[in-house]
Amino acid sequence: MAKDTCVLAYSGGLDTSVCLRWLMDEKGLDVICVVGEVGQEHEGLEEIRERALAVGAKDCIIADMREDFANNYLSKALAANAMFENKYPLLSALSRPLISKYLVDVAHANGAKYVAHGCTGKGNDQVRFETSIRALDPTLEIIAPVREWHMHTRDEEMEWAKAHGVPVPTTKKKPYSIDDNMWGRAIECGVLENPMNRPPLDIYTMTRDIADTPDEARELTITFKGGMPVAIDGQEMSMHEVIVELNKIAGEHGYGRIDMIENRMVGVKSRECYECPAGLALIAAHRALEDMCLEREVLRYKLHMEHDWAINVYNGQWFSPLKHAMDTFMATTQQCVTGNVRIKFHKGNLIVTGRESDYSLYDYGLATYDAADTFDHKAAKGFIDLYSLSLRTWAANRAGKEATDGE
Ligand code: ARG
Repeated sequence: MAKDTCVLAYSGGLDTSVCLRWLMDEKGLDVICVVGEVGQEHEGLEEIRERALAVGAKDCIIADMREDFANNYLSKALAANAMFENKYPLLSALSRPLISKYLVDVAHANGAKYVAHGCTGKGNDQVRFETSIRALDPTLEIIAPVREWHMHTRDEEMEWAKAHGVPVPTTKKKPYSIDDNMWGRAIECGVLENPMNRPPLDIYTMTRDIADTPDEARELTITFKGGMPVAIDGQEMSMHEVIVELNKIAGEHGYGRIDMIENRMVGVKSRECYECPAGLALIAAHRALEDMCLEREVLRYKLHMEHDWAINVYNGQWFSPLKHAMDTFMATTQQCVTGNVRIKFHKGNLIVTGRESDYSLYDYGLATYDAADTFDHKAAKGFIDLYSLSLRTWAANRAGKEATDGE
């Protein structure tokens, strides 16, 4: 009888290599690997593909997801200025639904019954993969080998790998768990598990230590069109190219590091270090333009929704009706977020130094204290009379009474 097929999200590391062989040996499945190019650091995609085939994969598909990631995922995160717990720009949470979509597409194209990932049972990523896959196709069955097998340490995995003919990496175990893509890098585990330990300098690869950054500041202008970054210093490029360029510049100036404790979905607080040079820079610049272009009440409402959006996506709800509805709101707000923002990088800082837009709601005549002033100062009296009316009524009533609802 022909074997059933499983599509596995594959990275080329020990964990997913053991997953691949385990699915073949323990579950009797044919395995098709999918490797996503999302702008991460890697040793070479062809090498990863060859390793998958050497371990026994029936096929290994390398999918270049970069433009899709930037245009359809990161653009939405930017529209929402998405920062989980006001600090973390969601890089892993954004790539999981993207990769899930490719996994499901490959499963459909190959008549696969199963989809598998190499996440542990303690993190957020398993939830994101599985909610995304289920939302896209509830009939696919999901296998999470790492949750099922009884290997607890890397040494046990190495032993299993050797016994099952899986080539074992010769390099020493990396002391951290890392996930990265063009929106940034997440670094956890090892010495970082003591929250008082300083992050060792070598955990960072995208950003320089401030001591090693140039003394000269670097100023540049980002052009946005409908909320999307479309040019740097007048040079037009795709959002993906803007991100690659900004990662270089911001990283060189030591901008974009985060050291935080965050609340995982499964109820665990974890210490996370991130570096997100381009992501944080784009959010800062985008916010500066929104401050100028969004009507006051839209901005007020959006600020609330931004955090809900971030929580929703952090929690693996990318393909949910709520997230879709919030995206529709966000998209409406972005129509007039068009213009230029000047930013300056210096010694780990980003400073917004100017903004301009055809959709600017900043009115010089209303704002100025000079002779050009068009603001009706006399009207302010009537405004304050009515604005304070409720408060005056309350104060007059309570005067002399035992206060129960005020100072
Ligand atoms: N804590 C972050 C998140 O939940 C980063 C996860 C990184 N994943 C990893 N396998 N190291 O989004």
